[in-house]
Amino acid sequence: MKAVNISAIATSDGSTTFFHSTLNEHYHSINGAFQEAEHVYINSGLSYFHHKEATTKIAVLEIGFGTGLNYLLSIDYAIKNNIAIEYTGIEAFPLPLDYIQQTNYQNFLATANLTSIFQQQYLAAFETEQHISANQSLKIEEINLADFSTDKKFDIIYFDAFAASKQPEMWTAEMIQHVCQFLKDKGIFVTYSVTGNLKRCLRDLGFTIERPIGALGKREMMRATLTR
Ligand SMILES: C[S@@+](CC[C@H](N)C(=O)[O-])C[C@H]1O[C@@H](n2cnc3c(N)ncnc32)[C@H](O)[C@@H]1O
Repeated sequence: MKAVNISAIATSDGSTTFFHSTLNEHYHSINGAFQEAEHVYINSGLSYFHHKEATTKIAVLEIGFGTGLNYLLSIDYAIKNNIAIEYTGIEAFPLPLDYIQQTNYQNFLATANLTSIFQQQYLAAFETEQHISANQSLKIEEINLADFSTDKKFDIIYFDAFAASKQPEMWTAEMIQHVCQFLKDKGIFVTYSVTGNLKRCLRDLGFTIERPIGALGKREMMRATLTR
């Protein structure tokens, strides 16, 4: 693992993100990494699904695991709400552990010691499933999304790729179709961005689309429910 082109910065809400100088792109909104992740993936994704389906066991697939912020917020939510989470992250270019250790996400979590447990388990999670408690698991797959395959099906996909303007190959119809094959019926796909192409792809795949208000002044985000 090496990350020569990546440096930590503070976003407007005080939470850390990284800047990728080759792509000229940040890992999160510079207006607030925590606020963006909480709004898009937790409030509009995990919490929405939890209440809609009234289920206590939820399998999450995250595309672009990066710093683990979405994972930490998901486990924090799960512990507060007494639900079980089986979390799988896909990451083609893992951040080295010493980068993960530069983040300050514990300041934004209710559960004590969550980030220190995560940091202890981070490298091992690339090898075998790790457990924060009997009800919470983490596995990270170091793989290009295009090559990822599994027999598992997931309740929620967090699609947290870099923007389509920077990494268009992540947003093609083929890539969206590829990732959506891993979603259960009634499952949801959430992402921070809405493009015409994404809307068309998801509709063609049998999703019902909603566009809730986006994070931090963004007009909209994408939430799509598989209804086929
Ligand atoms: C916007 S950042 C993700 C932020 C992350 N969710 C977080 O909270 O830190 C996009 C991530 O996608 C990863 N990535 C880029 N290309 C990929 C690919 N082809 N397959 C899987 N992951 C990829 C990047 O390395 C980066 O970690």
